[in-house]
Amino acid sequence: MKQMKRWLGFPITAILLVGLPLGFLLAEGAHDSGVLSDAQRASYRRPSAIPFPDDNPYTRAKADLGKMLFFDPILSRSRKHSCSSCHMPAKAWADGLPHAIGEDPAGIELRSPTLIDIAFLDLLGWDGKFPDLESVAFAPLTSPQNMNMTEPDLVHRLRAAPRYVAAFTVAFGDGDITRPRIEQALATYERTIIAGEAPFDRWIMGDETAIGAEAKRGFALFNGKAHCASCHSGPSFTDGSFQDIGSATGNDIGRGRLFPKSEKLQYAFKTPTLRDVARRGPYMHDGSIATLEDVIELYDKGGIDRPSRSPSITPLSLTQPEKKALIAFLRTLTADKSEPNPPPPTR
Ligand code: HEC
Ligand code: HEC
Repeated sequence: MKQMKRWLGFPITAILLVGLPLGFLLAEGAHDSGVLSDAQRASYRRPSAIPFPDDNPYTRAKADLGKMLFFDPILSRSRKHSCSSCHMPAKAWADGLPHAIGEDPAGIELRSPTLIDIAFLDLLGWDGKFPDLESVAFAPLTSPQNMNMTEPDLVHRLRAAPRYVAAFTVAFGDGDITRPRIEQALATYERTIIAGEAPFDRWIMGDETAIGAEAKRGFALFNGKAHCASCHSGPSFTDGSFQDIGSATGNDIGRGRLFPKSEKLQYAFKTPTLRDVARRGPYMHDGSIATLEDVIELYDKGGIDRPSRSPSITPLSLTQPEKKALIAFLRTLTADKSEPNPPPPTR
C-alpha cells in the first residue's frame, strides 16, 4: 500500500494501474497458444519512468555521489570490499556465488540478490525486513561479516577525503557528511539500476522476430499451465510478494521470523525479479539451486508440501518440450548489454 501511495503522481502510475488488473487476468486466463493480446503485452511493457520518493527526489549530483560511494572500497574496514564487490554490474548486479563473502571469510548465510529494478520494489531483503532502499545501506556497512564498519568510523573516513567533501557539497549544498546523506545518495544511485532492453522487450513492443517460437510457447506456459506469473508478474517479473515455494529446508524461515504467527510466511522469501536470470545462477536466497534446469524441475515437482507452501505451487506435470520452452523464454529476459546504462530518470 505504501508503495502505491509513493508512486502516485508519477507518470508510471497510469501504467501500473492498468497493469495490475491485466496481470491478474493474464495469470488466470491465458491460453498456451503463444498468441498474446495487446492488453497482455501492455502488462509487461517497461515503465517509462523510475519512481523516486518525495523525501529523496532524484538529482544528478546525488546519483553521482551514490555511484562514487557504491564502487568505493573505502566503505569497508579492510578497504577491500565495496557494495559492487557483491552487486557487480558485470554479474547482473549480483556476484555469482551461492553465499555472499565480505570481510569475514566464512561468508554470510545468504546469496547476494541482484539490484536490477530495485526502484520498483517496496520491501527489501530476502525476508523483507527493510522498509525502503534508504534503510538498507547501513546493514551491510555495519555488519561484522559484511563490511564491518561503524557509523562514526565511516563518517570520519569520508570527512577526511577531500573528494567526498566536494561531492557532498555539490549534492547537498554543504560539505557535511552524515548517515542520512550517505543513505540518500546510495539509494538514489541504486534506483537508476534498471533492466537493460532484452529480446523479450522488443517482442512485447511488436517485433515478432525478436524471440523464437519455443520462447513464445514458454511465455504462454509461464502465464498459463505453469502459473509462474501469479508471482513473477509485470515488467520486472515480480509482484514483490513473499512466498514459500516449498524449497527451503534449512533453519532460515525467512519472513516467518518477522511474523511468527503467520502460517503462510514461514519459509517465505522475496519473489526475485527474473530480469537477466540466465546470467545470475546459482539461484534462490540460499544459492541452493545451481541451474535454470534444476529450478524448473523444482517447480515441476511442486516442492515440499507443507502448510506454508503457496497454493500456486503444485506439481505441474510438464513435458520435456514444455520445460525446454520455459527455459528458452527465461533466456529472452537477458539484456543485450551486461552493464545497463541508466537512462535519465523522468519524474
Ligand atoms: C559481501 C557481499 C555484500 C556487500 C559488500 C553488499 N551487499 Fe547488498 N546484499 C548482500 C546480501 C547477502 C543481501 C541479502 C540480505 C538480506 O536479505 O538480509 C543484500 C541485499 C541488498 C539489498 C536488498 C536487495 C533486495 O533485492 O531486496 C540492497 C538494496 C543492497 N544489498 C545494497 C547494498 C549496498 C548499498 C551495499 C554497500 C553499502 C551493499 N549492498 C553491500 C550482499 C552484499
Ligand atoms: C508462489 C509464487 C511463485 C510462483 C508461482 C513461482 N515462483 Fe519463482 N520464485 C518465487 C520465490 C519466492 C522465489 C525465491 C525463493 C527463494 O529464494 O528461496 C522464486 C525464485 C525463482 C527463480 C530463481 C531466481 C533467483 O534470482 O534466485 C526462478 C528462475 C524462478 N523463480 C522461476 C519461476 C518459474 C519459471 C515459475 C513457474 C514454473 C515460478 N518461478 C513460479 C515465487 C514464485
